[in-house]
Amino acid sequence: MKVKIIGITGTGLMGSAIAEKALLAGYSIRLYDVQKEHAEACMKKLNSRLQSLMKKFTASDLSNVQQNTVTLCRDIAGLNECDLIIEAVNEEIELKRKVFTELDKICPPHVILASNTSAIPVSKLAEVTSRPDKVAGLHFFNPVSVMKLVEIIAGRETSDDTIHTLEHVAKQMGKTAVCIKDAPGFVANRLLVSMINEACRVLSEGIADRDTIDTVMRLGANYPMGPLALADLMGLDVCLKIMEFLYAGLQDERYRPPLLLKQMVAEGKLGRKTGKGFYEYPLPPQK
Ligand code: 3HC
Repeated sequence: MKVKIIGITGTGLMGSAIAEKALLAGYSIRLYDVQKEHAEACMKKLNSRLQSLMKKFTASDLSNVQQNTVTLCRDIAGLNECDLIIEAVNEEIELKRKVFTELDKICPPHVILASNTSAIPVSKLAEVTSRPDKVAGLHFFNPVSVMKLVEIIAGRETSDDTIHTLEHVAKQMGKTAVCIKDAPGFVANRLLVSMINEACRVLSEGIADRDTIDTVMRLGANYPMGPLALADLMGLDVCLKIMEFLYAGLQDERYRPPLLLKQMVAEGKLGRKTGKGFYEYPLPPQK
């Protein structure tokens, strides 16, 4: 199937970064967020990114982008002209199921519905739609502009055609796609959060301090950043949610969320986005 228009619903950190990548890959974009100001901020960001690219490149370099449009939708029904919709709303299963139910109602049958979920099994989203063959996971990594991987998750009934279409879109966006079977946390988060979980335990048990733990993994295992810095980048609330899904889904002690993480999330220490997590970060000035 040929994708020309991509819809993004949920235009927070991940949604807006995916929208930018898709726009630069030559797709027209439709944006929708229940919080109108999020979608407006995303639109503003895309426009200013385009302006700065126009200064850097010639018009012909950007001809594939210029022909395309970015449209802000007033309601979710505005996404019904899209060929592919990428959902990037909060990591809550009932919310995602509600969004998929609504998208299924408003979209013609050929439209592919993909979720950027970090950990929720795709089949749980597909089952609320009348098109389980056209539902899949399309999992991007943070920061989206630099991370090369996309996990494509095939649900129980996802068709080969849907997977091939998503592989093509990911390639157009400059990503390497890997196809993975449906399971809690897929591959990347299943491995990453067990490391983050263990790092929290090592810290809580006083075996090593924050900087030592991160230095060990940076210099001893050549990770670009240590597990605690990575948790701050992912968002401690996101890490906690992923652990909860994995623990519920796999019933494995390795994924039992550590007390330290729960406490930090309860205190609003969510990592980079709140300026405080395991480390402190300067917050961008309020406009
Ligand atoms: N947002 C956007 N771009 C960023 C960024 C951020 N937070 N941090 C760095 N970058 C960009 C820089 O602008 C730079 O781009 P350029 O080459 O075009 O100038 C590029 O990344 C490299 O940056 P730096 O050289 O300044 O910094 P580093 O070499 O320290 O790299 C990093 C930064 C790319 C974040 C690197 O530390 C890294 O790869 N860390 C691991 C990230 C990771 O594992 N992400 C996956 C998280 S799990 C996930 O997303 C799954 C989800 O479900 C939760």
